[in-house]
Amino acid sequence: MKIFLDTANIEEIKKGVEYGIVNGVTTNPSLISRENQGFLPLIKEITSIVPGPVSVEVTAKNFEEMIEQAKTYAKISENVVIKVPINMEGLKVIKKLSDLNIKTNTTLIFSSSQALLAAKAGASYVSPFVGRIDDISGDGMGLVQEIIQIFDNYSIETEIIVASVRHPLHFVQSALMGADIATVPFSTLSKLLNHPLTDIGMEKFLKDWEKVEK
Ligand code: G3P
Repeated sequence: MKIFLDTANIEEIKKGVEYGIVNGVTTNPSLISRENQGFLPLIKEITSIVPGPVSVEVTAKNFEEMIEQAKTYAKISENVVIKVPINMEGLKVIKKLSDLNIKTNTTLIFSSSQALLAAKAGASYVSPFVGRIDDISGDGMGLVQEIIQIFDNYSIETEIIVASVRHPLHFVQSALMGADIATVPFSTLSKLLNHPLTDIGMEKFLKDWEKVEK
C-alpha cells in the first residue's frame, strides 16, 4: 500500500520524505488555508520535495473555470493531480482532463455509486472520506470494501485513496482490504510506528549493554 501525507505543511512533508515512506501528498483548500502562504508557490515547493503525486483541488464551480484552474495547476509539475469534487460538473471535468492526459483525484466520495461513476468518467483516483462517514455513525471502511469489490468485479484501474484517515486502525484495515493508498495526517504517522513493547525492549537492551565490558 502506498502512503500519501494529507497535509500542505512543508516541514511535515520534508520529514515524511526523509523517513522514506511517503509516496505522495494530498492537499485540500482547508489544509492550504492553514499554511498562510501563497497558494501556487506553496504547491510548487511541495512538488519539488515529494517524489510522487501531489493532489491539488479546484475550487471553481463551473466546468470552464474548473478546467482553467486545472490547466494552471497541472503546469506547475507533471506530478500534480487535479482534485475534483464528485458532482455532475465534476464528472465532465474528469472526462475532459482524462482526454487531456491530466490525472484526477475525485474527492468527497461518500458512496460506492459515486466512486463507480468517477472511475467511468476516467478518474485516476477516488478518495472515500472514511473518518467523516464514521463521524455520522456510518461505516467508512465498509465503503472502502464495497469500492474495492466493485473495481475488482470490472478490473477498473482507478486507484482508491483512503482519505479522512483518523487513526491507525483505518490505516491497518486499508492495508488488509488491499486499498491502493492511504493518505494520512502527519500526526497519524508516528502513531503507526509507536509500540510500548518496542520502547521497553530498547530500554532493557541499552541497560544490559552498559554491563558489557567494551
Ligand atoms: O484527504 C481528505 C482529508 O483531508 C479530509 O480529512 O479529517 O478533514 O475529514 P478530514
